[in-house]
Amino acid sequence: MRTQVVIVGAGPAGLLLGRLLENHGVETVILERRSAGYVLGRVRAGVLEQKTVELLERAGVSHRLHEEGLVHDGVELSFDGERHRIDFRALVGRTVTVYGQTEVTHDLMDARAASGAATVYEAENVSLHGFDGDSPKVRYVKDGIGHEIACDFIAGCDGFHGVSRASVPAGALQTFERVYPFGWLGLMVEKPPVSDELIYANHERGFALCSMRSRHRSRYYVQVPLDERVEDWSDDRFWDELRRRLDAETAERISTGPSMEKSIAPLRSFVAEPMRFGRLFLAGDAAHIVPPTGAKGLNLAAGDVGLLADALVEFYAERSAAGIDAYSAHALARVWAAERFSWWMTSLLHRLPDMDGFTRRIQRAEFDQLRSSEAAARAMAESYTGAFGAESVMR
Ligand code: APR
Ligand code: PHB
Repeated sequence: MRTQVVIVGAGPAGLLLGRLLENHGVETVILERRSAGYVLGRVRAGVLEQKTVELLERAGVSHRLHEEGLVHDGVELSFDGERHRIDFRALVGRTVTVYGQTEVTHDLMDARAASGAATVYEAENVSLHGFDGDSPKVRYVKDGIGHEIACDFIAGCDGFHGVSRASVPAGALQTFERVYPFGWLGLMVEKPPVSDELIYANHERGFALCSMRSRHRSRYYVQVPLDERVEDWSDDRFWDELRRRLDAETAERISTGPSMEKSIAPLRSFVAEPMRFGRLFLAGDAAHIVPPTGAKGLNLAAGDVGLLADALVEFYAERSAAGIDAYSAHALARVWAAERFSWWMTSLLHRLPDMDGFTRRIQRAEFDQLRSSEAAARAMAESYTGAFGAESVMR
């Protein structure tokens, strides 16, 4: 079997890349370790930058997004119960759209199924070969039978624990990492959100976030120690803790109910450089992780594959390697802008048990500056909406 590009992983990065390439007549095969149902069952974030929405439009998968997505003009920050709104539209003329990653994935899967492009779910033992030369190959096992696909390029879109990054020879990649000594306990509930916009709260008991998936479904988070077990968190305990971390008026208005899902996720910052090794490209979580505080994970993945699709289309249409040669440096410039912002927002909003008075007062001073300085608020709005760090490299 032969194709032009083998894509490893059918998360949003792999599926969007497949779609963008297909629209330009580039043939792909996607190999995914899990079933489609399993991929769709994972609860992930749900804030899309305008650039991500534009890319989904370009990919022809934005119909439902425009019908069901919620356009947000700003977010609220809460510090020890005092609230302050950051008005994205007024500050930078941009908005974000709340639409779950699961829905994005669903739309991309439907489009791919309709087009008939090849996707192999439950592909086991995927292995990458010869990508340091001109004729890479990808092997996998499906239903007990071994297969081999010859291709021009491999796109590693297989997430943080995937095989692609692990296949690059040791020493050819440099990695950078921060782990944070806390996690987020998230809860999904079929109730209207407490507020029209997201509320990010820093409270002496720890961080909390009020988010949503739709007008009827809410997503809430509280910061917890890393050794916390989800079994120890009854819904009642969760709601009590969340209310304590919010201002009194918001706490009063929350519509609680039985959780549909509850899980703990660790927070991590991670980057692997470069994002290309020969004919293998890394994109999305395979190359980098951000803590969820800035809502950048999905947007970074989309940005990567936007660049990669342009580069590969240019290669096939013009026989020019300029785009693929520039891919890693272009993508990493955006990645580091988002790493900085996600790290900054994480540092601003979380509490540690051993945090000293100096650090707490620095957080407070930062919040006061966001409240009193339009320049500071604009800088945050630029990063959150993706106005900064994206413009120069995404078309
Ligand atoms: N072989 C084939 N597929 C694999 C392998 C493997 N060895 N390892 C992992 N995969 C698949 C996973 O099952 C998953 O479906 O690769 C896919 C990677 O998808 P994601 O983890 O969703 O990563 P990505 O597409 O880069 O999307 C980034 O996801 O984690 C969030 O915050 C992140 O929102 C961001 C988005
Ligand atoms: C979410 O809704 O899951 C969400 C929203 C914003 C974030 C992180 C997660 O910053």
